[in-house]
Amino acid sequence: MKEKRTLMLPGPTPLPQKARIAGANPMIGHREKEFDLLMEEVVEGLKYVFQTENDLLVLTCSGTGGLEASLSNTLSRGDKVLSLCTGAFGARYASIAQNYGLQVERLDFPWGEAVDVDKVKEKLEEDDEIKAILMTHNETSTGVVNNPKPIGELAKEYNTLLLIDAVSSLGGIELKTDQWGADVVVTSSQKALMTPPGLALVSVSPKALKAGESSDLPKFYWDFKRAKDRYDNKSQTPSTPAISVMYSLREVLKEIKEEGLENVFKRHKIVAKAIRRSMEAIGLELLVKDEIASKTVTAVRLPEEVSYQKLNKRLKERYNVYITGSKGELQGKVFRIGHLGNVSRSDILSTISAIELTLKDLGFDLELGSGLKAAQKVFYEEERR
Ligand SMILES: Cc1ncc(COP(=O)(O)O)c(C=O)c1O
Repeated sequence: MKEKRTLMLPGPTPLPQKARIAGANPMIGHREKEFDLLMEEVVEGLKYVFQTENDLLVLTCSGTGGLEASLSNTLSRGDKVLSLCTGAFGARYASIAQNYGLQVERLDFPWGEAVDVDKVKEKLEEDDEIKAILMTHNETSTGVVNNPKPIGELAKEYNTLLLIDAVSSLGGIELKTDQWGADVVVTSSQKALMTPPGLALVSVSPKALKAGESSDLPKFYWDFKRAKDRYDNKSQTPSTPAISVMYSLREVLKEIKEEGLENVFKRHKIVAKAIRRSMEAIGLELLVKDEIASKTVTAVRLPEEVSYQKLNKRLKERYNVYITGSKGELQGKVFRIGHLGNVSRSDILSTISAIELTLKDLGFDLELGSGLKAAQKVFYEEERR
């Protein structure tokens, strides 16, 4: 039964078979030649997905560790940062900064909307002490995608660092790290990279490394300099890494390269469109408008007559379909469907079908098959393009 679960979460995501098998490889020592080769292949594969020539660090922790490291390695006590918040994860990044003793200027946007670039410019214009901009590329709590490109231009114009939380986007939604001027980009293994949880993957620009030279915030385990030096000299990590996750990641990165990033992004766009059109056809309201909609996660407003708990429980028990709710002000108001990484069109179709049946069972008036038909139309038309 468990093998058959349809995991439609915004992470952890389903593992491709190759990743699962690779994860069961015999253990090796992390000071052996075999490990060095594994590490080099992982780093090269990641550089392709990050679209970067910057240093690429492999940290053993979840995404949050990478976010902490992005701050502790580039900033100093009392530095001012501009934190762009479009939901729970933007707020989380701001909290981490606060905990490190940084002065946090929060720029909040309504949940379900994207960053307003003009407001960011205004802020940078009136305050020349801002050392770094913190942004969430894909706000997982709402399903909004923020565009890093214009923010990168502003970071350049106002000479600040740009630190990006790309935990739920990298490998699913385009992020041109170098072209768009992102100084630190953080993602984690368990989302669009389709591997088990356990790694944060972080790109670091020369500008961020330079800023790090004068940084006085505490760091040791996730010290960028230690990680970079060890890799540059030995192709290794300073401490024992999650070797099994790296085995899986190496396989996934090969597959991504084979498919081609453009095709990977296109695949995500199509499934996101299928989910969105199907939810509307069922008669549900989407939280976010098309122009800023995430390609990896979709938030759907719950109809009044259906509680999230009941929907979630029944989907799991009857259909083995796993979705999730949201946080903060959206708690109990929306459900979210993750559609990133190793999610197939048939997973999408069976999820839609299960949602229709469950909603109908729970008293929401809908025409069975309406959502399915809308998604089929998206897939059908896509084949004919
Ligand atoms: C945008 C974003 N940032 C940060 C995190 C936290 O990542 P982790 O749970 O890997 O620490 C998540 C997790 O869902 C996320 O979606």
